[in-house]
Amino acid sequence: MESQGDGYTPVCTESAEVRSATKSDLPQVVALDIAAYGGEAYSPHVLRQLLDVHGEGVLVLEGREGFEDGDGPGALLGYVLVANSSRTQVSWVLDLVVDKRYQGLGFGRRLLSAAVRRAERDGVHAVRVTVEPGNRTAVGLYRSLDFVVEADDPDYFGPGERRLVMTRLATRYPMR
Ligand SMILES: CC(C)(COP(=O)(O)OP(=O)(O)OC[C@H]1O[C@@H](n2cnc3c(N)ncnc32)[C@H](O)[C@@H]1OP(=O)(O)O)[C@@H](O)C(=O)NCCC(=O)NCCS
Repeated sequence: MESQGDGYTPVCTESAEVRSATKSDLPQVVALDIAAYGGEAYSPHVLRQLLDVHGEGVLVLEGREGFEDGDGPGALLGYVLVANSSRTQVSWVLDLVVDKRYQGLGFGRRLLSAAVRRAERDGVHAVRVTVEPGNRTAVGLYRSLDFVVEADDPDYFGPGERRLVMTRLATRYPMR
């Protein structure tokens, strides 16, 4: 794909594919997490074990053609990590990240929809996530997929660490 004069490279969103994560994706997943959260990112050790524990619930978005500009085919553009509990039949979205350079193109929605579809196919009744109230993009994305605010906890992660708990009920809103 040719770069335009202003250095902007158009992206063909069709040439990115959602697939299950593998162990060899770990370095790129770690890098995506650090780029998104800095010092608050999951450590490589934790991510490694989350991959083992929730392997089925970890999806990556891999760029194919059109992502050669510095990234090369096979570059990961984002990932989502969902933990499923067969006991409670509730899943938690523990992480959702899209590379800053490729945000706003619908990739976050693709990853989240695929993860929710997979969880609901496995029989979960609800998918939950905690979101910082000021993260308008994430809140907007979750709302657009029928997540509703179930709780607003001013101290969810400790004093002053406010989070919204958003939930999507599978039975009420079958995935489109
Ligand atoms: C949240 C995140 C994954 C969204 O990824 P993305 O690829 O940019 O999202 P999409 O392009 O799929 O946008 C999907 C929807 O998000 C919402 N959205 C996007 N930008 C928004 C904004 N500035 N304000 C409000 N809503 C917005 C819209 O509903 C949008 O749908 P639309 O384009 O049909 O209007 C991405 O911003 C990210 O990685 N952020 C850093 C990590 C993070 O905060 N993760 C969430 C943890 S809970």
